[in-house]
Amino acid sequence: MAPMYSEKVLEHFRNPHNMGEIEDADGIGDVGNPVCGDLMRITLKVDDGTETITDIKFKTFGCGAAIASSSVVTDLVKGKTLREALEISNKTVVEELGGLPPVKLHCSVLAEQGIAAAIRDYYGRHSDKQIPPQVQEKLSKLESIDPHQTPGDLEPQG
Ligand code: FES
Repeated sequence: MAPMYSEKVLEHFRNPHNMGEIEDADGIGDVGNPVCGDLMRITLKVDDGTETITDIKFKTFGCGAAIASSSVVTDLVKGKTLREALEISNKTVVEELGGLPPVKLHCSVLAEQGIAAAIRDYYGRHSDKQIPPQVQEKLSKLESIDPHQTPGDLEPQG
């Protein structure tokens, strides 16, 4: 029988990158999936001038795929601007992981939602900054995903 998880998923699950919580975070994203009960907290440090993510950590109470997705997504957005970070979709996370089984695709959505929620929180703390329309758009798109279903825009991977 073919292994359920790629070597990359197992590697990130065993040795997750950026795990923990930033004490004096500039943005916090708390998301969860009501169906499986998994929870994820993303904390960010942001350089206000360039709006670049200078540090990021995650705490995930969830399955191995959610932990591996958190690890990969935090690696991907570190050093990126908030705008660039918002362009990273769960599809990119899945590709980066070398695929996820279809029943586990929602775990990668949680990672995308966590980043978007932390970015929204960052803007919420800065009344001097305008929330870019992309942030609002992305959040409403992510909030409309039915957690009972595999996200429609994803092809089953690997
Ligand atoms: S099973 Fe729910 S996030 Fe993985």
